[in-house]
Amino acid sequence: MVVLGIETTCDETSAALVRRREDGTGAILSNIVLSQIDEHAPFGGVVPEIAARAHVEALDRLIENALHEAGLPLGIVDGVAAAAGPGLIGGVIVGLTTAKAIALVTGKPLVAVNHLEAHALTARLTNNVPFPYCLFLASGGHTQVVAVLGVGEYVRLGTTLDDAIGEAFDKTAKLLGLPYPGGPQVEKAADNGNPLRFTLPRPLARRDSADFSLSGLKTAVRLEAERIAPLSDRDVADLCASFQFAICDVVMDRLMMGLSYFEERYGRPTALVAAGGVAANQSLRRALNIVALEAGTKLIVPAPELCTDNGAMIAWAGAERLAYGLADDLGVSPLARWPLDTVRHASKSVSEPAS
Ligand code: KG4
Ligand code: ZN
Repeated sequence: MVVLGIETTCDETSAALVRRREDGTGAILSNIVLSQIDEHAPFGGVVPEIAARAHVEALDRLIENALHEAGLPLGIVDGVAAAAGPGLIGGVIVGLTTAKAIALVTGKPLVAVNHLEAHALTARLTNNVPFPYCLFLASGGHTQVVAVLGVGEYVRLGTTLDDAIGEAFDKTAKLLGLPYPGGPQVEKAADNGNPLRFTLPRPLARRDSADFSLSGLKTAVRLEAERIAPLSDRDVADLCASFQFAICDVVMDRLMMGLSYFEERYGRPTALVAAGGVAANQSLRRALNIVALEAGTKLIVPAPELCTDNGAMIAWAGAERLAYGLADDLGVSPLARWPLDTVRHASKSVSEPAS
């Protein structure tokens, strides 16, 4: 089956076409992503009203481009999927309403996809990873350790109690005078820095949970920066390197805990899968590799353009759900908040996905 996917939950507008074959493998036919970074950069973060307006302006054209690039007419599509949340509600409304209109006109089923579920299932599109696996979702809005047991079957093992990991990178960048989005800037600066110059905390280290607390780390960087101000380029590089070193340590500690809970409850995971924009960070990837090896599993990280927000992951989640007959009503509502463990899942009576 071929599914059209629409993503508008944050600051990327995206439309994509994805094929799911009968054997459960997938192929991306097109995946057009338009980033709004330039529009938000002057404000140092995402402005919801600007994001919603930019989605409205771009989405129709992007869908046309996605169909054109795939070389397929709209009529051939077997389903229309849109991220229905969680996210910035103005943007979510734009994407979901557009998907409803297309579903209504074409008579094809609508799938209201949970954005986090789409991140969770991407590794099945790219690497055909079998269930159950452990997901580490590390983005600007989310930091979660999730047991992915089946389509629609997710158990959150840990989450952040305060800042998301990408948010911690972005806030640290901002306080050091680096431009938005800060994650890649911190990584670049850290390349030339000394990770051992500043002693930063490792919040919740060895605590008996897979939860994270990251706001204190950013505050510790701020206090060190204030102590040695004015900052030279070397100071900024050393602060970034020390921050990144601490965050990798924290992730390793928290994930080891999450993976041991996973194994206790569900047996050894088929993989540790990383997703979200922060998974692009090379030091973090090295840390994740070590964790996966120690837990006796392997690390899978989809390509960077599929780790960050994109339409292909929404289309794929839509296809996985449609294969189980999990279409949605045209009356389905957009949701600003939508915890992953509350999504509808394939009922036990539908054990074999249809083609
Ligand atoms: O998944 P994503 O594209 O968007 C959502 O938040 O949903 O993630 C964006 C986040 C931003 O906080 C950005 O600073 C961070 O991912 N990021 C990075 C890197 N590349 C992107 N953080 C650290 N190192 C990077 N190389
Ligand atoms: Zn995302």
